Amino acid sequence: MQKDGEVAVITITNPPVNALSGAVRQGIWGHLQDALADESVKAIVLAGSARAFSGGADITEFGKTPVEPGLNPLIDGIEAADKPVVAAIEGLAFGGGFEIALGCHYRVMGPKGSLGLPEVKIGLIPGAGGTQRLPRLIGATASLAPIVTGDAISADDAVKLGIADKLIEGDMLAGAVAFAKDVADKRPLRRVSELDVPAGDAEAFEKEASRLIARNRKLQAPQACVEAVRASMSQPFAEGMKTEHDIFHSLREGDESKAQRHLFFAERAALKLPGVDKDVKPRKVEKIAVLGAGTMGGGITMSMATGGYDVTIIDLNPDNLKRGLGIIENNYRKTAARGGFTEAEVEDALSRIHGATDFDAVKDADMVIEAVFEKMELKKKIFADLDRLCKPGCVLASNTSSLDIDEIASVTSRPEDVLGMHFFSPANVMRLLENVRGAKTAPDALVTANTVGKQAGKVPVTVGNCNGFVGNRMGAARARQVHALMLEGAMPQQIDRAAKNFGFAMGPLATNDLAGIDVGWLVRKERGEVMPIHDTLAEMGRHGQKTKRGFYIYEEGSRAGVPDPEVEQLIRKIAGEKGYTPREVSDEEIVERLIFALINEGSQILEEGFANRASDIDLIYIYGFGFPVWTGGPMKYADRLGLRTVADKLAQYAEVSGMDELKPKPLLARLAAEQSSFADYDKTR
Ligand SMILES: NC(=O)c1ccc[n+]([C@@H]2O[C@H](COP(=O)([O-])OP(=O)(O)OC[C@H]3O[C@@H](n4cnc5c(N)ncnc54)[C@H](O)[C@@H]3O)[C@@H](O)[C@H]2O)c1
Repeated sequence: MQKDGEVAVITITNPPVNALSGAVRQGIWGHLQDALADESVKAIVLAGSARAFSGGADITEFGKTPVEPGLNPLIDGIEAADKPVVAAIEGLAFGGGFEIALGCHYRVMGPKGSLGLPEVKIGLIPGAGGTQRLPRLIGATASLAPIVTGDAISADDAVKLGIADKLIEGDMLAGAVAFAKDVADKRPLRRVSELDVPAGDAEAFEKEASRLIARNRKLQAPQACVEAVRASMSQPFAEGMKTEHDIFHSLREGDESKAQRHLFFAERAALKLPGVDKDVKPRKVEKIAVLGAGTMGGGITMSMATGGYDVTIIDLNPDNLKRGLGIIENNYRKTAARGGFTEAEVEDALSRIHGATDFDAVKDADMVIEAVFEKMELKKKIFADLDRLCKPGCVLASNTSSLDIDEIASVTSRPEDVLGMHFFSPANVMRLLENVRGAKTAPDALVTANTVGKQAGKVPVTVGNCNGFVGNRMGAARARQVHALMLEGAMPQQIDRAAKNFGFAMGPLATNDLAGIDVGWLVRKERGEVMPIHDTLAEMGRHGQKTKRGFYIYEEGSRAGVPDPEVEQLIRKIAGEKGYTPREVSDEEIVERLIFALINEGSQILEEGFANRASDIDLIYIYGFGFPVWTGGPMKYADRLGLRTVADKLAQYAEVSGMDELKPKPLLARLAAEQSSFADYDKTR
């Protein structure tokens, strides 16, 4: 604490983001008491650093013995002070940090300040008065969006909404102290908890609540946020706080929030790479060249431009380039029309995108991401060209989904700069990015790919160079179960219904129809692999939605497939030829075989070292394959069920189906026998 005339300044100092650990809370409390006892002090400024007023609760303290004072008594103490307390917010004030600021009598912000209540993103609601004080300050309806989405509020918006009392340009501390001097003698002090929630329009509240919940209908926390805000309108403050407390605690003990907290930590863990020192710095990247203006090249270009990079998209075919650029612009406009971007953001991103039909632009690129046709000979030719043309230190990435990164790197004189950056379709939407580490990839090239990925809004996960990498290799194991289940007697609509009931947005066969049954067929042909049911449909020209026929029939203009008796007959015929006698397959068996096959293959990938941790696999399945969030991912879900149960069931299904690959793989079998878990295994990594 320092004094500036009659103003006491308490500065929170707990880098990097001033998390509200027990020691921080004690520090604020102690200095507050000193300032209140000191008769020469007329007003108090509570400040943080330029980066953060406070990033909120220290979530590593969850589940540990609480240290006094708790956050709520601290905030109540600040609010009850009989001298004005001004929160000076230069950087972020999130979660408990924002809630402390709401307990202050005034809030001033710097232009880069931002406020947020992101608890919903880890399956919680704000638990230190956020749901009760914010509505009292700005109204219940206006409070819904920040609380239900967890999205941040800029300083400008905070002033407009009436959360911040003043925007301070220039020196924050000087401005906050001057503000505190101005208000030092003003009475009564405005205590937010004593305000009434401004009368609002109940219909508008419910309309906004349904709009926000619709985005995440399957999760509990967004609805719980609405419930808590609703309580602020009907209950006195103390009772509302009790409602908030009860909801918070029931969510905190529930599986859903545990799963989301697991993913929160998993995202951070995924950036720690074995054998790569944490001090390794990323290379500087400003300009990126994307090769190929097709489906993937377009989506990758959008992600990078939205992330602030200058992108040149190169396609040797001028028509494809023109079409690709048109689709990019159209996608931006459509997203803007739905409220995803402002017009200014769209113009800004588009101004960073350039098109070219020759390779000249790779010369000054800091990173090249190749997304041309999936042909090894073509990729090798392109990487040899890149080796000749690109400046030293340029990161050379391929978006290949199945080819060997080391073979691609081998044609260059700089395999240390080569890696895979495997995006998922649609690449402007899907958050997963598998960064594939080749045998010779340099640590700083990998760190660069992770940094660029994060900047572009992705969840980067580093994987090894095996066939299909991690996500698609596991997906292939699941696809083999889907195929076998049909031969054994389950029909496409039953499989899809069971998968949807478990929580997938789409069933596996409807997904095949959407992606095109021919895509996998062509890959299998090249590799000499077969999947008789899928292959027969592809040969019949039933490629899915695009041909109006696939596993289902699609009426003109409809994306909802209708079951087709002809397909059922075909499945029964192929099954008969292969010697299967159809049997009743339960929905439970379908779901367990699909999911346990993923877990089994995941454990094998882990043991072979192609994934660094089980939690990396969870990220891959949540962010790249629509695995339901409430599970925390397949490996976390396996831990929850108990590995013994998973292994026993797999052994049983291996017997029923005659599929050896369903037998528990060695790592899974070992952990199950030891009554251990994937989480314990990760701790040894
Ligand atoms: N489609 C997916 O779901 C998906 C997902 C992940 C990765 N991938 C991988 O991404 C890559 C691209 O796939 P796609 O679906 O976007 O293909 P696509 O056919 O839609 O686009 C490929 C583009 O590359 C261009 N091209 C071909 N040769 C070129 C050259 N020498 N120089 C510059 N441009 C050239 C073509 O004109 C075409 O526009 C492939 O390696 C694929 O395996 C695809």
